[in-house]
Parts: sequence; C-alpha cells; structure tokens
Amino acid sequence: MSLTILAIESSCDDTSAAIVRDGQVLSNKTANQEIHQIYGGVVPEAASRAHQINILPVVEMAIRAAGIDKTEIDAVAFTRGPGLIGSLIVGVSFAKGFALSRNLPLIEVNHMMAHVLAHFAEDPKPQFPFLCLTVSGGHTQILIVKDYLDMELIGQTIDDAAGEAFDKTGKMLGLDYPAGPIIDKLAKDGTPRFAFPEPKIPGLDFSFSGLKTSILYFLKKQVAENPAFVQENLVDICASVQARIVSILMNKLRLAAEKTGIKEVALAGGVSANSGLRQALVEEGQQKGWNTYIPRIDYCTDNAAMIGITGYYKFLQGKFVGHEVSPLARWELSTPIL
Ligand code: KG4
Ligand code: ZN
Repeated sequence: MSLTILAIESSCDDTSAAIVRDGQVLSNKTANQEIHQIYGGVVPEAASRAHQINILPVVEMAIRAAGIDKTEIDAVAFTRGPGLIGSLIVGVSFAKGFALSRNLPLIEVNHMMAHVLAHFAEDPKPQFPFLCLTVSGGHTQILIVKDYLDMELIGQTIDDAAGEAFDKTGKMLGLDYPAGPIIDKLAKDGTPRFAFPEPKIPGLDFSFSGLKTSILYFLKKQVAENPAFVQENLVDICASVQARIVSILMNKLRLAAEKTGIKEVALAGGVSANSGLRQALVEEGQQKGWNTYIPRIDYCTDNAAMIGITGYYKFLQGKFVGHEVSPLARWELSTPIL
C-alpha cells in the first residue's frame, strides 16, 4: 500500500506545497514573495496576504506536477511552527480545510525538525546519530539527531541567527533582501582582508550581535574617511563578513564533534546554501575523517518537500492531530512533539 502526503509550508515568506509518496518527493513547488525586497526584510502582514493569494495555485501546481489526482492523497502535513503567526495561520487553515473536505488525517510538523529531515529526501542519507548544524533566517542550532523524530538541542544562538547576520549586514551595505545569497555571490570575487572579531561565547552556543555591531562601527569609520569605501571594497567586505560567519559556525561545530565523538555531520537550513560554509564543511570533514552531508539547495531553503518527508515519518508512527490544532509562533525542538 502506498502512502501519499500533501505537504504545506507557510512559516515565513515562501508559500510551498509538495507531494511526497512513500518518503519520495514527487513534486515541490514554491512561490517566493518579492514584495519584501523593497522593505529590506519580511513585512509580516504583506507575507500573510501573499500566502493567501499563492496557496491555492501552489497546491494545485504541486498536485499537477506530481502527476496524481487529489483523490490519491492520504494525509495532509503542515508547518505548525515556529514562524510568523499570520503566515502560519494561512497554511494551517488551508491544511485543515483540505483535510476536512476529504476526511484525511492531519500531521503537524515542526519547521526546524523538517529542515533536518530534508536530508532524507535524497541519497546519501546520514546515519543516526548525526550532528546537524541548522542555520536559517531565524535559527542557529546544533542538534544531535538520534532518530527521525528524536533530536537533542546542544547549542543555539543567544541573540541573532546566522541568516540574520547576513541579511542585516546586507542592509548596511545597501543590498536587497534577502542578502545572504547576494553576499555569497559577491564574496566569490573578494578577499577576506578585513578582520572582524570572533565572539567569546562558552560551550556550543553562538552569538552574532557583536559581529553586527563591529561591522556597523567599521563601516561608519571607513565611510567617514572615504564616502566611496563601500562601493570600492564591496567584494572584500562581503568576503570578510562571510569568512567570519563561517568560522563562527565551524568552530562550534568542530567543538560539538569533539565533545560528542560523532563523525556524521550535516548542514541544514537556508544558510547551508552558502558556498563558503559548504566548502568549509567538506574541507573540515576531509581533515577530521567526518562523513559530511549537505542537502541540495532547494531542500536547504524553505520548502514543503521537507514538511512532507517529516510528515511521512510521523504518519508511520501514527502521530496525527485534531482540527483544534492552532499555529505556534515559538516551538522549541526540545518540547515533546506529541
Ligand atoms: O531556512 P530559510 O529559507 O528560512 C528560514 O526558516 O529562516 O533561511 C533563510 C535565510 C536568509 O537569512 C537568507 O539570507 C539565508 O537563509 N540564505 C543564505 C544563502 N541563501 C539563503 N545565506 C548565505 N548564503 C546563501 N547562499
Ligand atoms: Zn526555514
């Protein structure tokens, strides 16, 4: 008997739907919201309104692209949180409506757990237990992944997330939102010749707010001396900021591997699309004898395929929810998931 899941993701500014059959992704369609570019960040109300417009066409596209009929869907998985509440409400309500109309079971999914389980969409798959550095616009976490639905948080940011560090730096440099991919591209032509400080945070936790402040003061000082400083040095500034963000992440990941003795090491989340970070993980892995895993880029950034994969493993364990379920803006992974 095959099991077909419709998955919905709407936690931030991407409206995404996927069809996952027996743990295999048949389709994965995403509508990106360009409206936020002009504001330099996600405007929550604009995001909710765009989800409302996009959700039905995106779901129809995913069903069509999978080559299935909607009568073949056996369950609906949806992102319950964490995320922007107005964005989540659209996806959760749509999932409930769809499930009610066809009398299907509902599966709630934690967005951060789903980023990790994106690794199970394709081969090679990490072996349990593995370490996962999940880096996104809202989170920076190191997890010990013991099983599909059993993850222990061992380190996290005490202030900004890694993606925020990229995006806020981009704003200071006058780049569009989201700036992470733009900085990544510019950094390829630059040299990391400006030294930004490494924060001294004990253990496996991260901090990025000091870096943001030091970049701000550095730019202020340089621009006061030369108003064209940013234009003249953009690629080197980007290379320097990226190198420091990558070193902050890699130093903690190395420490986590030393402390736990785990040699299966994975990256997840939107920032794992960063070429500097991907390269650093591969090089570190070769040096330390780790097996390293990085999902392909469209499974790193927000997508519904990862929600469907997580939904599949929850379905196998009979973890369903009722129609009284409501979104959670905050949902720590350490909170028992059902
Ligand atoms: O996981 P994600 O798509 O959404 C959240 O759950 O937050 O992550 C979005 C973040 C943004 O901060 C974006 O700038 C960053 O991922 N990002 C990148 C790259 N691609 C996306 N950061 C650095 N380099 C990239 N290539
Ligand atoms: Zn995400």
